Amino acid sequence: MYSLEDTFTLINGVKIPIFGYGTWQVTDPQEAVDGVKQAVKAGYRHIDTAQMYRNEEHVGEGIKQCGVAREELFVTSKLNNNCHGYDEARRTILESLEKLDLDYLDLFLIHWPVVKNTGSDWKQDNIDTWRALEDLYDEGKLKAIGLSNFAVPHLTNIFENSRIKPMVNQIRLHPGVLQEDTVELSRQHEIIIEGWSPLSPMKYLKDDEKVNAMSEKYGKSMAQILLRWSIQHDFVTLTKSVHEERIQSNADIFDFEISEDDMTYLDSLTFDDLDKPDDFTER
Ligand SMILES: NC(=O)c1ccc[n+]([C@@H]2O[C@H](COP(=O)([O-])OP(=O)(O)OC[C@H]3O[C@@H](n4cnc5c(N)ncnc54)[C@H](OP(=O)(O)O)[C@@H]3O)[C@@H](O)[C@H]2O)c1
Repeated sequence: MYSLEDTFTLINGVKIPIFGYGTWQVTDPQEAVDGVKQAVKAGYRHIDTAQMYRNEEHVGEGIKQCGVAREELFVTSKLNNNCHGYDEARRTILESLEKLDLDYLDLFLIHWPVVKNTGSDWKQDNIDTWRALEDLYDEGKLKAIGLSNFAVPHLTNIFENSRIKPMVNQIRLHPGVLQEDTVELSRQHEIIIEGWSPLSPMKYLKDDEKVNAMSEKYGKSMAQILLRWSIQHDFVTLTKSVHEERIQSNADIFDFEISEDDMTYLDSLTFDDLDKPDDFTER
């Protein structure tokens, strides 16, 4: 059934809360501080930010003000696309720690495997970048290290060229985007899968009779159905809102179970104008 307090265990033994507060597009400093505080108040213990979101300072401030001890929180950040390579990755990860005002991060990810229009060799680029994460992991600055938006070829390259195996792969996952090959290969290597943008199908589903009937049957909103779908796939589920009421209601998904038939229906959905998963590896 799972609860908001539940965790999965990464291959190195670190526990990762299965439900996390995302901060993408939270650019207003006060909204970032308040969002983190409201999420922690609502019971979230996992906060996801990224260098690219340009809110690490404010997320860090929210963490400082939230009233829960640092050790009880799980904080992730991710590498900016223009900071690949050993030296730059190392420098900028240490900068993230300064911005967040933390001694360590619970998890740090390479945000995207392929950076568009640089002409660089993504394979070598990821090998060099990963070494920086490995070294900072050894030094205790990063308690776990992983990848984001890595599909099969990118994962394979890391598997073949790494000293420390990745512990997490954070990818786009929701009805309409299942990325089954990536999920399967990741899981074969005991990598925990995190899903981003779980609520993005909402705009396509407003008139879907079956999903509306599910809402009625379970007494849950469409957002709650989509978040629960993600949890029932055993994806660490990340969701974002800057509204306290939504932050709370999004976490209220641990008292019901979507039936197998309804899961199968949600899995079968496709949306014509969504980007294709193949495009999800380049930014
Ligand atoms: N690794 C990556 O490349 C990557 C990419 C994207 C995201 N992420 C991470 O994953 C997190 C989650 O993805 P996401 O930000 O796209 O989140 P999401 O939870 O799928 O969607 C967030 C959007 O839905 C709205 N929303 C939230 N709760 C709602 C509700 N109950 N009813 C209606 N609308 C609702 C939010 O607006 P309001 O804020 O106005 O409520 C926001 O516009 C991100 O924040 C980020 O941390 C990672």
